[in-house]
Amino acid sequence: MIIAPKIRGFICLTAHPEGCAQNVLNQINYVKSKGPIDGPKKVLVIGASTGFGLSSRITSAFGSNASTIGVYFEKPPAPGKTASAGWYNTAAFEAQAHEAGLYAKSINGDAFSKEIKEKTLELIKADLGQIDLVIYSLASPKRVHPVTGVVHNSVLKPIGEVYTNKTVDFHTGIVSDISIQPAGGDDIENTIAVMGGEDWAMWIDELKAANLLAPGATTVAYSYIGPTLTEAVYRKGTIGRAKDHLEATAFEIAEKLKDINGKAYVSVNKALVTQASSAIPVIPLYISLLYKIMKAEGIHEGCIEQIQRLFKDRLYTGAEVLTDDKGRIRVDDLEMRDDVQAQIATLWSEATTESLPAIGDLAGYKKDFLNLFGFDVAGVDYDADVNEMVEISGLV
Ligand code: NAD
Ligand code: NA
Repeated sequence: MIIAPKIRGFICLTAHPEGCAQNVLNQINYVKSKGPIDGPKKVLVIGASTGFGLSSRITSAFGSNASTIGVYFEKPPAPGKTASAGWYNTAAFEAQAHEAGLYAKSINGDAFSKEIKEKTLELIKADLGQIDLVIYSLASPKRVHPVTGVVHNSVLKPIGEVYTNKTVDFHTGIVSDISIQPAGGDDIENTIAVMGGEDWAMWIDELKAANLLAPGATTVAYSYIGPTLTEAVYRKGTIGRAKDHLEATAFEIAEKLKDINGKAYVSVNKALVTQASSAIPVIPLYISLLYKIMKAEGIHEGCIEQIQRLFKDRLYTGAEVLTDDKGRIRVDDLEMRDDVQAQIATLWSEATTESLPAIGDLAGYKKDFLNLFGFDVAGVDYDADVNEMVEISGLV
């Protein structure tokens, strides 16, 4: 079929298999171009099909020749209906990994569930024995609690008072004010239940109890901080509470891993266009200004540049892992540079529908958004008939 983007708000209902495959290949080539990393050998990535998780899997495999198991929740294709992007990404990754002689298998299902955890543990037991790195990179709007059966929905709301600020509709380029009502009811608890650290700790507890963590094993989950500008809706909002919980969980996990000399970290990453972040109000305007400045300064990074740097310059340097005063790894250092943030603060006050195309990188935002789904990728023929029924070779 010939596949075009079908955009509805913050998502695209179609994905292009060839474009997704090209994106994956570009990431693989980037990692290879940066040379080998003396990194992990057997890796589990939870949330492995898109965004930071996919880049973590690619960096493990093609930077350190690691065997990888990926867990994700993606929609398979049906005749005449495309799969979700993460499906095609994984198909491309596994084809490349297998061609390179690397072990790569995956499990598609709800990582929050008992069943998917058990299935993953069985696979590790049968194929890999013990793993030495667990990346936790889930971004989900909801979680069915595996013990209580309660469905928790995460929300992106300020806490305490109404928050009003500028935002941009990145499809139309229209800059407007939006007001977001503060969290009410169980919003905070629910968001913590979905995006906090409970599920990460459950994974590690179960892996450890089954003796599937190698001595010295490391686990890393991803967090975000961002500037004062977005604080009310992000770091001091409901999602920020979940990130506080995630960061606190790292210390609890680290404590539990002491007897095997294991380590648990949160890495604070840069703001990037992903399926998760485009749904957060205000953030798209911030990102379009950030991209413009970081590109002009020559310090812009995407997911793969971030994760390659995380592995090479933070996790696997052969020395102690560098962390901030709260024990967090920081690869958002370039985003948070004083000069970068000062420029954004100035541009923020100037941003209007009329000025944004010049002062912000709206075009870069849109391109990255389309790229998430395999569209607008250089070298891909979008007029060609492509097979939507792509299989994932290592799917268990
Ligand atoms: P993403 O949407 O690209 O990836 C989410 C992954 O989780 C996908 O592989 C998806 O299949 C998987 N997933 C979702 N629900 C699942 C479920 N129930 N079971 C199994 N898999 C499931 O998101 P991302 O932006 O890469 O986010 C990953 C982490 O990085 C999040 O913790 C996010 O907060 C954090 N982070 C994101 C940014 C950013 O700007 N995007 C910045 C810093 C940190
Ligand atoms: Na991810």
